[in-house]
Amino acid sequence: MQQQLSELVRLAAQEIANCHTLNELANVKAKFLGKKSELTQLYAKIKDLPAEERPAFGQSLNQAKVQIEEKLSAQETALKQSSWQKGKDSSSDLTMPGFIPAMGGLHPLTIVQREIEDIFLSMGYEIAEGFDIEDEFHNFDALNTPQDHPSRNLADTFYLKDGNLLRTQTSTVQVRVMENYPPPIRIISPGRCYRNDKPDASHSPVFHQIEGLVVDDGITLADLRDSLVSFARIMFGENVRTRIRPHFFPFTEPSAEMDMSCVMCGGSGCRVCKQSGWLEIAGAGMVDPNVFDMLNIDSEKYTGFAFGMGIDRITMLRYNIPDLRILFENDLRVLCQFR
Ligand code: DAH
Repeated sequence: MQQQLSELVRLAAQEIANCHTLNELANVKAKFLGKKSELTQLYAKIKDLPAEERPAFGQSLNQAKVQIEEKLSAQETALKQSSWQKGKDSSSDLTMPGFIPAMGGLHPLTIVQREIEDIFLSMGYEIAEGFDIEDEFHNFDALNTPQDHPSRNLADTFYLKDGNLLRTQTSTVQVRVMENYPPPIRIISPGRCYRNDKPDASHSPVFHQIEGLVVDDGITLADLRDSLVSFARIMFGENVRTRIRPHFFPFTEPSAEMDMSCVMCGGSGCRVCKQSGWLEIAGAGMVDPNVFDMLNIDSEKYTGFAFGMGIDRITMLRYNIPDLRILFENDLRVLCQFR
């Protein structure tokens, strides 16, 4: 009897070792442990034996069964391992191309903001951060904005119930920086701004600006021009032409706007530049001494310049985006083009 079982185990081990696929292994398992297997038939014979022989006989059968099961499971592990490595598992084709997981990317506004930041960082500017929720002092008063200035109007500015407001310009950060740091100052500050504007192709109640401020001994309009022209050339190419026109802002004196030759038509006139050949890209000026006085900076000793640019506008020009709203709708068909 023992001999018969040993022979059975030996035979099973041999056949198991010869299995090269999981299918073959399943067949061998059925042959040696299945309902019609020799072993199962031997189990059925237990009841025919004299009672005193039954336990020993049952134990021998169990031992043989366990030995076969161990061999089966070892071979199964080995086969799975090698079929994974060789890619030959019949149930899966490892040479098939896999699913490429969807990858996120930066929003075009973020890409352009970082590009602008890098240009000014390379010119020695540092990045300063401000707050989206501001008070009237930082958004208007300290920027020399008269009490009756139209921009303070409810129709233009979002006021909060507590008397604060959503900043309408990043110029607030000029004030925060001058309050807290003595000159020399050389900062830019990108961020969101809010105005009570109806959304259309060129307006949005939320938009993005980048502010610049430089304060030091002996800063002149030429330094302002230098920073802005250098920026335009690096951002839009050596061939871009620029011009500076007089303008008015409450917090700068003199004030100016800078235009550059239209990047779409090169200056010959098109729909984007409204046939003028020029695009306005920045408001700027020399810091008004009144602003220095309000912030306790010695206006006899220091001069400075400031500028503000629209990041959305520059992004639209950079990527030829015709409608500002496209930047805020987060349509994946658009965003995927920037991955
Ligand atoms: N804050 C101005 C605006 O929102 C832009 C601006 C103009 C910023 C002149 C400045 C500046 O710093 O000097 O239209």
